[in-house]
Amino acid sequence: MQNFVEEILKRRTFAIISHPDAGKTTLTEKLLLYGGAIHVAGAVKSNKIKKTATSDWMEIEKQRGISVATSVMGFDYDSYHINILDTPGHQDFAEDTFRTLTAVDSVIIVIDSAKGVETQTRRLMEVCRMRKTPVMVFMNKMDREGKDPFDLMDDVEQELGINVTPMSWANGQGIKFEEVWTRGSDKWNANMRPEDRELIEGVYPEFDRDLYLAGDLAPVFYGSAYKTIGVQELLDFFVKNAPSPRPIDALERTVDPMEESFTGFCFKIHANMDPNHRSCIAFFKICSGRFERNVYYKHVRKDQQMRFSAPTCFMAQKKETVDEAFAGDIVGLPDTGNFKIGDTLTSGENLHFKGLPSFSPEMFKYIENADPMKQKQLDKGVHQLMDEGVAQLFVSQMNGRKIIGTVGQLQFEVIQYRLEHEYNAKCRWENLQMYKACWIESDDVEELELFKKRKAQYMALDKEGRDVFMADSGYVLNMAQNDYKHIKFHFTSEF
Ligand code: G4P
Repeated sequence: MQNFVEEILKRRTFAIISHPDAGKTTLTEKLLLYGGAIHVAGAVKSNKIKKTATSDWMEIEKQRGISVATSVMGFDYDSYHINILDTPGHQDFAEDTFRTLTAVDSVIIVIDSAKGVETQTRRLMEVCRMRKTPVMVFMNKMDREGKDPFDLMDDVEQELGINVTPMSWANGQGIKFEEVWTRGSDKWNANMRPEDRELIEGVYPEFDRDLYLAGDLAPVFYGSAYKTIGVQELLDFFVKNAPSPRPIDALERTVDPMEESFTGFCFKIHANMDPNHRSCIAFFKICSGRFERNVYYKHVRKDQQMRFSAPTCFMAQKKETVDEAFAGDIVGLPDTGNFKIGDTLTSGENLHFKGLPSFSPEMFKYIENADPMKQKQLDKGVHQLMDEGVAQLFVSQMNGRKIIGTVGQLQFEVIQYRLEHEYNAKCRWENLQMYKACWIESDDVEELELFKKRKAQYMALDKEGRDVFMADSGYVLNMAQNDYKHIKFHFTSEF
């Protein structure tokens, strides 16, 4: 028992998030070097889909392959077990990133000190705020001339809406930058310019772990991932202060990681790249207890007992079969279409974890079959890709046609390519001018029915059969919100 509690307490499961190019890959690599998980720099492949690759299919497929290897990187440091969850950098895959953030207990935000807070960081921070995820900030690239360190902190406070306090300080910027001083250390006291020290100690509070854990205060570190300066200071502070696995809300109740019976949810499904083996890896976050190989667990949605003979964990960059894993860990379960995003596995209890919403898509196309002989293959492919969370499927109430909604243009290309290569099906797209799809509900049944009747040509059903309003402009959506006071318009599928 003691051992079980200790195992869970030493886990630190987190994601590094940043705007592309701020240095996420470089920082990840340096952390792995400290953990002894890799031995040479350059071993971690960037999981970002480069801007130039938007129309280069093989490049994206290659990168999808890489992202399996770097999906989760586990390593031991000090007496801690660290799991870093990777997130795709490309904004068209923002939804994958949002879902990955549901499986972490904290995040480190990397900021390019020459650029300050950038768009993607802002969007990701909104998700962290929604979930009250504890956040640490690493101001990277201090070896370059950049913004003033105080301005950077102001930027984070204003742009990301979170209080900050510096826990390390750079001895200078650009070529002068050689080291950082940790807050309160002899070097901090002896070397810092008195006016800087006065300002910091007068304006920024002492670190308060409770505020940090509540998502209200972000400790800030300065450094250069590239030159490996300030990284160890961040890591040492992180392992001591970042949370071990936190309780997670299910619809039925809150689940504590220390509960002995196993529970977990699927936050990501990764298809095999080899078209001859259409198997996937379903990634499960373990929410409580211990997961064991070859033990029967309940697939709650299917009400089915299942066991897994080859579950994998991810140590450094190697996928290894494991006999057991604990709350906080991520296990990869080989799957042939049994799982979809949001599925729950338990030792027997009927639980449904919350917090895996679909987001209102903003790009829409009708999907048409381009090969009449392959209708079945197309239907199967579309459904499986939707279960993987690649995009969302709606059926128009007006004409019964299928509509695919995404958050980025790339997804349409991904779907078309994968249908062809994995399902032997061909599709055609037809443009559809839409602004946003939102889920609607109301306690006022009459008003809801009236709305659905009047807006019949804009109504659709999602995969679960729920009502979705497809607004063709922001103006129309605003009008609808004004005219129908009792109807709630939701921009995520979970409400
Ligand atoms: P990302 O994953 O957040 O997209 O960023 P990544 O680590 O790939 O870093 C983006 C670029 O910034 C890389 O340069 C990387 O070497 C550089 N970089 C990262 N950290 C630092 C730092 O602390 N200081 C400086 N000066 N540069 C840094 P690149 O030219 O795109 O690639 P490469 O040729 O160096 O691999």
